[in-house]
Amino acid sequence: MSELSVNHLLGIKYLNKQDIELIFKTADHFKEVINRPIKKVPSLRDITIANLFFENSTRTKLSFELAEKRLSADVINFSSAQSSVKKGETLIDTVNNILSMKVDMVVMRHPNPGAGVFLSKHVKASIINAGDGAHEHPTQALLDSYSIREKLGEVKGKKVVIVGDILHSRVALSNIYALQLQGAEVMVCGPKTLLPKYIDKLGVKVETNLRKALNWCDVANMLRVQNERMEINYFPSTREYTQQFGVNKALLDSLDKEITIMHPGPINRGVEITSDVADSKQAIILDQVQNGVAIRMAVIYLLASKIKQ
Ligand code: CP
Repeated sequence: MSELSVNHLLGIKYLNKQDIELIFKTADHFKEVINRPIKKVPSLRDITIANLFFENSTRTKLSFELAEKRLSADVINFSSAQSSVKKGETLIDTVNNILSMKVDMVVMRHPNPGAGVFLSKHVKASIINAGDGAHEHPTQALLDSYSIREKLGEVKGKKVVIVGDILHSRVALSNIYALQLQGAEVMVCGPKTLLPKYIDKLGVKVETNLRKALNWCDVANMLRVQNERMEINYFPSTREYTQQFGVNKALLDSLDKEITIMHPGPINRGVEITSDVADSKQAIILDQVQNGVAIRMAVIYLLASKIKQ
């Protein structure tokens, strides 16, 4: 197979196993490109991409922009904080105004779940979801699986626990879909209040004891508590959360085996992860960020190939 089964990347839910394999194979090529002295290819000289960020981002925004520039695409950036959205303009009007400037592809982060799906039905451009509320963050899940594959050889058969605020996490849902498609076993671990009620229906194991979860897994993906999506208190105090669900070096050293630690960022050092773990050889956090550029180059390149047909 040499093309994706989809015209947009709206969520991992819409991909199949072959799509993921094709994205990884293409990312392998681009990873080699970005390690060359000249890190750029002319592949997308005829493509214009708009990055629309209606919610804060550091890694995803910079990573997409770098990926687009490495592919030689023309890039425009939009941030809602400085835009006419503040004057009452709708999402569709905003995007259609941008598209009238002959934009081929839109990368969008938005606080509302389903914003990307909605947009894909109303505008003529290829849409990439860069995170929609607590729903999906597909490129994050792809770069996470790609990083596991790089570190452990393959994703199939690996045991991965996602720890923390599962309830408010788009990273968790996209990772569950992506890992299961590739044949990994997935567990979620966190306080009961931060685990969605029917999460087991997704075929994941559920654990509230962090030590048990870490003893089970090959990889632990540590999530941040998403205070910005919380209107009530889900646990008594940050100190108590850290005591029960934070990883530290002493805890990792007391396990039967050495596990791999991941984090999508941004990290809250001293809350879900201590600095001595985040900066240790067991953590592949900066590898994840580096792989994000190659993965996003692959996704953009493969979707742009479909526009050109
Ligand atoms: N991992 C992630 O999405 O980070 P940003 O919010 O900084 O983009």
